[in-house]
Amino acid sequence: MKKQRLVIAGSGSTYTIGMVMSLIAEKENFPLESLVFYDIDEKRQALNAKATEILLKEYYPELRSFTYTTDKKEAFKNADFVFVQIRTGGLKMREKDEQIPLKYGVVGQETCGPGGMAYGLRSIKDMIELIYDIRKQSPNAWILNYTNPAAIVAEALKREFPDDRKILNICDMPIAIMVSYAKILGLEVWDLVPEYFGLNHFGWFTKIYDKSGNDLTERLKNLIIEKGFKPEDAEIANDPSWIKTFEQARKTLMDFPEYLPNTYLQYYLYPEEMVKKEDPNHTRARQVMEGREKRVRELCGRIIEKGTAAGEDLHADIHGVYMIRAAESLAYNLHQYFIVMVENRGVIPNLPQDAMVEVTCVLTSDGPKPFAVGEIPTFYKGLIEGQFAYEKLVVDAYYEKSYLKLLQALTLNRTVVDTDKARRILDELIEANKGYWPDLK
Ligand code: G6P
Ligand code: MN
Repeated sequence: MKKQRLVIAGSGSTYTIGMVMSLIAEKENFPLESLVFYDIDEKRQALNAKATEILLKEYYPELRSFTYTTDKKEAFKNADFVFVQIRTGGLKMREKDEQIPLKYGVVGQETCGPGGMAYGLRSIKDMIELIYDIRKQSPNAWILNYTNPAAIVAEALKREFPDDRKILNICDMPIAIMVSYAKILGLEVWDLVPEYFGLNHFGWFTKIYDKSGNDLTERLKNLIIEKGFKPEDAEIANDPSWIKTFEQARKTLMDFPEYLPNTYLQYYLYPEEMVKKEDPNHTRARQVMEGREKRVRELCGRIIEKGTAAGEDLHADIHGVYMIRAAESLAYNLHQYFIVMVENRGVIPNLPQDAMVEVTCVLTSDGPKPFAVGEIPTFYKGLIEGQFAYEKLVVDAYYEKSYLKLLQALTLNRTVVDTDKARRILDELIEANKGYWPDLK
C-alpha cells in the first residue's frame, strides 16, 4: 500500500486536532509517509503543531516525518494530498459577516445570505492564489477543499482551473446529518447509502438505503417526525445552536415531506424565524470563539505543558474521518460513495449544465463519478436556480469587480429580496471588507 504525503493548509484551524485524531484512527487505511502543516499564522499553527508532535509520538510512532511551516514552497513540495481548510479574515471577520446583515433584519450566517457573499469574496482570492502555489510544487496532488463558502469557492475554482481534474470540493454537512439518520435507524453511518442532490449547503436527500439495498427512506422520515431529530456526532451533539438547527430540519421535513432537507435550508426557507432567534451580540462566531476555539486552545496548552496527551478525552470526528475516507477512495480506487461537488453536465438535466452541484458520487482514482439524478420537481428547481444565479453573480462580480452584480446577487438571494435593503447591506459590507475584497467599480 503506497504511503501518502499529506499537507494540511490552514492548520491553525480549530478542526486540526480532530483531523489529526482522525488520521490516527485511519492510519491502517490511509497510511502516511509524511504530514506537513501550513498556515500563514505562525502562532495559531505552532500551538496545534506542538500538541500534534506529542499526539503523533504517542499514537502514531511509525510516522517518521511531521513538519510545520509558513513557507508555501517548502510546504507544498512533493505532496500526494493537500487538504485545504483556510478561513480568510478568521473568526473575527466571520462575526462581522453575521452581525452586519442582522442589523437590517436579514439572516446573518457564515455561508448563507450576505455573510456568505462577503466571506465568498474574501475566500476566492486566497483560494485561487493557494491553488496556483500548490500546483507549482505538486502538479499532481489531489486537492481536497472544504474551505467555505464551498459553493462559491467551487464555482470560482471551476472557472479559474477548468482543466484541473484533481481539485475536489467537499463538505461534511451531509455526513453529519447521516450520523443522526444512522442513530435513529440503529445502524452505522458507513452502512448507509444516500441519494442526494442540490448545491452545497442547499440540498436534499431523496433516498437512504442500507448496504444491502433496502430502502429506509420512509421509515426514517416517520421516525424523525415521530421521535424528533438531533445532532449526534460528538462535536456538535451538545451544542445548543446545532440542536435548534436539527429541530428546524424536522420542521422543514414536516412542511415539505418529499425529501429530507440539508440543515442549511433553514436560512432560506425560514429567514424570519432565523433572524428572530439570533442575538446580534452573540452570534455563532462568538459562540465558536468561546466554545470550540477556547477548548482546543486549552487542550493543546495542557498537552504541551504535560508533554503527554494521556488522560485527555480525544477522539476522531466525523468531519476528519469523512475527508480522510474520501482521500482513501481516491488514492486506492475504492469506489466508495461520497456526497461531493461536481459540475452538473447532465446529472440533473433540468438545471444549468455548468452548475457545481452536490450529489452522490463514487470516488475512484480517476476522480468522482456522479450518479444520474434525473429531472427534479419545480419547487426544488426554482429554489436551486435562484441560489445558483446568486452564486454565479458573486463570482462574476469578483472577476469583473462589479458593484452592480453584487447588488443583483443580494437582491436575488432569498434571505434579502428587497433592493434597498440589499444596497444598504452591501455598502456596509464593502466598508467592513476593505483590504479583502477587490475594489469595486
Ligand atoms: C458544518 C458545515 C461547515 C461549517 C460548519 C460550521 O460542518 O458543513 O461548512 O463551516 O458546520 O460549524 P460551526 O460550529 O463553526 O458553526
Ligand atoms: Mn459545509
